[in-house]
Amino acid sequence: MELPPRPKLFDFHGVSMTHYFTDNWENIQNFQARPDDILIATYPKAGTTWVSYILDLLHFGQTAPERQTSLPIYERVPFLESDFHILPPGTELADKLSTSPRLIKTHLPVQLVPKSFWEQNCRVVYVARNAKDNAVSYFHFDRMNQADPEPGDWNNFLQRFIDGKMVFGPWHDHVTGWWERKQTHSKLHYLFYEDMVEDTGRELDRLCSFLGLSPSAEEKERVRGGVQFDNMKKNNMANYSTVSIMDFKISPFMRKGKVGDWKNHFTVAQSEQFDEDYKKKMKNTTVQFRTVV
Ligand code: A3P
Repeated sequence: MELPPRPKLFDFHGVSMTHYFTDNWENIQNFQARPDDILIATYPKAGTTWVSYILDLLHFGQTAPERQTSLPIYERVPFLESDFHILPPGTELADKLSTSPRLIKTHLPVQLVPKSFWEQNCRVVYVARNAKDNAVSYFHFDRMNQADPEPGDWNNFLQRFIDGKMVFGPWHDHVTGWWERKQTHSKLHYLFYEDMVEDTGRELDRLCSFLGLSPSAEEKERVRGGVQFDNMKKNNMANYSTVSIMDFKISPFMRKGKVGDWKNHFTVAQSEQFDEDYKKKMKNTTVQFRTVV
């Protein structure tokens, strides 16, 4: 299949975007959430697929085991704002979901989320990842994913990341915007990738308590095993190997799954420049990240 050219970034309501996430904007804005919908919100590459898979297993692992072998994760958990033309738009996939609850993924910064999710007081799981590892993961993803702008070399990419010229805007605004929303939307569970790596079982318990679920110890252990990095990497329903716009010869979607890989990419000078800029941009927030565990 001939791939379309890589898309260009443009300003959309003050956020850098590509047409794949704005072509369907009217339907996105008017999307009708249901009170039991669960919105999984993240900056790209923060662990969206991991948490999506966890939530899917927690909710449907027992009742609909056939999903696990027949439906790729991006069909179980529609990507709300996407309109990639190789699949129906995210809003349409979500409208067609017959599950309850519906699990819906978004990378939108908090101010662009359709208002219906707030009106319906939906549960939201936000996953955040430290900026340095997030940047590295995004770089490798953009190398292999034809649906994002060309990343260029690491140095250029990192500068763009610092400047916030990324699809879905600056990392800093994203993680802090959602952190602030937690103060007014009590049904928002803010989860850190680093905590998940450190102790997946503990984070599963916290998630279950937020979701009002009480799986048996055996069931929880089954979920914990199923969502380990190596198992997800092998799992064709979770590893995106079925997506034509991604070139796994360049880099796999399930790449390393580690905290601290940034140390293999940042030079000392890049790290210092990054930290200096970070301090300025994050000085007014209380959200704290760990870059090692
Ligand atoms: P790396 O590129 O650092 O390996 P997203 O799903 O938001 O696109 O995030 C993808 C990142 O999450 C990738 O990071 C991927 O490897 C990591 N990831 C996915 N599943 C994981 C798991 N089960 N455990 C740890 N990391 C995981």
